[in-house]
Amino acid sequence: MNKDVIIACDFASAEATYAFLDQFTDCKPFVKVGMELFYAEGPAIVRELKRRGHKIFLDLKLHDIPNTVKKAMAVLSGLDIDMCNLHAAGTQEMMRAAVEGLTREDGSRPILLAVTQLTSTSEERMHDDLLIEGSMSDVVTHYAQCAQTAGLDGVVCSPLETDMVKRACGQNFLTVTPGIRFADGQVGDQVRVTTPVKAKTLGSDYIVVGRPITAADDPIAAYKRCIKEFVL
Ligand code: C5P
Repeated sequence: MNKDVIIACDFASAEATYAFLDQFTDCKPFVKVGMELFYAEGPAIVRELKRRGHKIFLDLKLHDIPNTVKKAMAVLSGLDIDMCNLHAAGTQEMMRAAVEGLTREDGSRPILLAVTQLTSTSEERMHDDLLIEGSMSDVVTHYAQCAQTAGLDGVVCSPLETDMVKRACGQNFLTVTPGIRFADGQVGDQVRVTTPVKAKTLGSDYIVVGRPITAADDPIAAYKRCIKEFVL
């Protein structure tokens, strides 16, 4: 399994994104494009980042009726992205439709991940607002198993949930984990954080790192530190 560091390009415009990425003169990092940037710039930002040689995780977290998700995934597949995602809460039927829509004529498709429960959702809110009973661990495990049954490749989860997901779904089922901070860095609004080196120990396949790199005084050094701690 190829471990990699994915930089969360949480910028408001294409200009800001290119200005940031232009600093990386000797490598082409794997980047994550989220809702803010995609809604601001549309598919053009994805095409341009691809043209520049970046791998792309398009983080749009689809959740709708199966037919709509299938058609939307077919559009995303045509953008030649490398990774995308949806909410497992959309049901196994929706996830199967997503796999179908995403699969190209030659049988290839981007990596498809499921969001189980957002890491911003506490167990209490899940019980009281969503009326989902059971522990957070049981719900995350069950959603991951549903995603696997539907044919998905893995989940986005907390690094602290990686081991649990791997035990339930096997080592080859991918875990892509945000919530990464350097041991000597700012935590910001993230709550359950781990360092790149700890995420590696816990078994994450990819770490998603935003502000520890994008807001660093020296983003290149911060990225290389992530690679050193997590990949090498
Ligand atoms: O700046 P920071 O490293 O906190 O960025 C983390 C990125 O991962 C953000 O783009 C955030 O939206 C995303 N993310 C997350 N937690 C999740 C899912 C996605 O932090 N559960």
